[in-house]
Amino acid sequence: MSDQGESEVELEARLAEGESFDPPASFVEQANVADEDIYEEFEENWPECWEQAADLLTWEEEYDQVLDDSDEPFYEWFTDGKLNASANCLDRHLDERGDETAIEWIGELGETRSYTYQELHDEVNEFAAALREMGVEEDDVVTMYMPMIPELPIAMLACARIGAPHSVVFAGFSADALATRMNSADSEYLVTCDGYYRRGDPLNHKNKADEGLEDVEQDVTTVVVDRLGDDLDHDLGDSQHDWDDLVEAQAGASVEPVTRDAEDMLFLMYTSGTTGEPKGVKHTTGGYLSWVSWTSQSVLDIKPEDTYWCSADIGWITGHSYIVYGPLALGTTSVMYEGTPDYPEKDRLWQIVDDYDVTQLYTAPTAIRAFMKWGEEYPEKHDLSSLRLLGTVGEPINPRAWKWYYTHIGNEECPVVDTWWQTETGGMMVTTIPGVAEMKPGSAGPALPGVSAKVVDGNGDEVDPGEAGYLVVDKPWPGMLRTLYKNDERFIEEYWQEYSDPDEDEWVYFPEDGAKIDEDGYITVLGRVDDVINVSGHRLGTMELESAVVGVEGVAEAAIVGGKHDIKGEAVYAYVITEDGYEGGEDLRERIIEGVEDAIGPIARPEEVVFTEDLPKTRSGKIMRRLLENIANGEELGNTSTLRNPDIVSEIQSKVSND
Ligand code: WT7
Repeated sequence: MSDQGESEVELEARLAEGESFDPPASFVEQANVADEDIYEEFEENWPECWEQAADLLTWEEEYDQVLDDSDEPFYEWFTDGKLNASANCLDRHLDERGDETAIEWIGELGETRSYTYQELHDEVNEFAAALREMGVEEDDVVTMYMPMIPELPIAMLACARIGAPHSVVFAGFSADALATRMNSADSEYLVTCDGYYRRGDPLNHKNKADEGLEDVEQDVTTVVVDRLGDDLDHDLGDSQHDWDDLVEAQAGASVEPVTRDAEDMLFLMYTSGTTGEPKGVKHTTGGYLSWVSWTSQSVLDIKPEDTYWCSADIGWITGHSYIVYGPLALGTTSVMYEGTPDYPEKDRLWQIVDDYDVTQLYTAPTAIRAFMKWGEEYPEKHDLSSLRLLGTVGEPINPRAWKWYYTHIGNEECPVVDTWWQTETGGMMVTTIPGVAEMKPGSAGPALPGVSAKVVDGNGDEVDPGEAGYLVVDKPWPGMLRTLYKNDERFIEEYWQEYSDPDEDEWVYFPEDGAKIDEDGYITVLGRVDDVINVSGHRLGTMELESAVVGVEGVAEAAIVGGKHDIKGEAVYAYVITEDGYEGGEDLRERIIEGVEDAIGPIARPEEVVFTEDLPKTRSGKIMRRLLENIANGEELGNTSTLRNPDIVSEIQSKVSND
């Protein structure tokens, strides 16, 4: 192991005792935030403390009020302020940093593209002009269904420039998922591509987009990026345009950034919830952009001269906030990698860190667990000494994986920020400020300064340190979602019903996570308490999954739960009752997997399909999911005698392989 650090044995012992780690002195010396008074300062000066976040942006018109809470929980931030997100991410950097790199893109096959701020600005202007030409107007929702290619952030920023909110649908989602989201958002525009590479092979994406479009109710105008050239032929249908043709026709165009109100919608992002219908989370221009800029600066410690890399996909909120908007608003270099971490070899990420002298790496625990499994010989082949900070997001990171990351990637010289947040929060909420706070592996950390996160019991009273409870946030923050698209009622039901007391004007946001807190205010997130499972950091609704399975011919009833998985964190377990006349064999199993992939995408593929004659139910007929989870995990079941059908339990148990 490393010779400058402590021995493996010592480190293991410290972890076992739940010990903490101080931020490395070399990091603190240069950190953007190194004064611990920030916590007190923000508390005393709340909500005005958030002017500091707004000050990171360039406003066309100053806001009148930091927070308007006259219509809770429909909060407004930076009221009457005017700005444009694309101007903040591009135009304002041109004078001083026009020739510096904004995006370093690395394709899976090894080809690279590099965009300076000036070049990115110019491409965004041309595509913005093309969108206008196609008829896109301010406030029209433009859907993007694209993999990790530079045209995706270009299209997002072009939309932001003309005030058209984007709705990015993860490329790995199915045709059905695309159609549902386009219908929900009444979106009449789609930007997609012919295909992309996965493990070196060209993959047809346009087929999937076209299939989705068949189920979209409104007329749609589509733009298709030709990513694969000669590797894949594609035809353009009516109202389908080629990206290059459109942009060529606008060569040299300049589009004035539209003045947007702070509260105007910047984008929509669909995410899974308890019911089958995906939720259209609405984020705004002023609050969101302030939030991602401030957290990028204070938590990721981003400086303009950095080469920062977030390995998430832009199809998820992490990529929106921490590949595109936060880093570009701060004028840094953001790395974007198209492919998988083990193609062509398992050292791909470390090769990129080495080649580009990456200074910060932000990734997910599921990836770290895979790296651990592959072994430290892969990072050891490369010089990773450019790294200054490491981050993780998406699910809890276990102390062992934390330690591996800290040691083998960070060489014990980089702080690790374990960041808890959600699609709905816009950006980070609970994590250490790396230049200030000590790190406790396994615990995300204290709430950020100015963020009021607490752990409460079922009555909303704060629990004692060490006790499990529910995570809540009882003060608003600038990056918060404003509502669910065209569904204010569901917004209140989903997030504000549980712990608020409207009569007392007390509004409490409930993220639906379980957590515990220690004496120092460090929060350990225990996982979702709703019917959402977290597979490789991807959020999947069990209802959505169940309706996909029940939609398969031959399935009478299904229950989906998450079972523990070494790499993915959780995996999908499907318990299925067949219809009379159908047999639960290999054929049906395959059709169920196909059904799920068609309805949602390959990420939702069931790990196990268990055929059973019945599902364990309470006397009132409710499926006992907790029990099914225990079975998936090979855990003790406790008392099952109150079930309507206790005998079924051992029968199901005998069918599940717990290896
Ligand atoms: C859910 C949100 C945040 C962007 C990616 C996921 C879980 C997220 C952590 C963390 C423990 C975490 C929570 C949360 N989660 N980060 N550091 N430690 N759990 O966004 O798809 O909206 O999912 O991911 O359960 O509620 P998302």
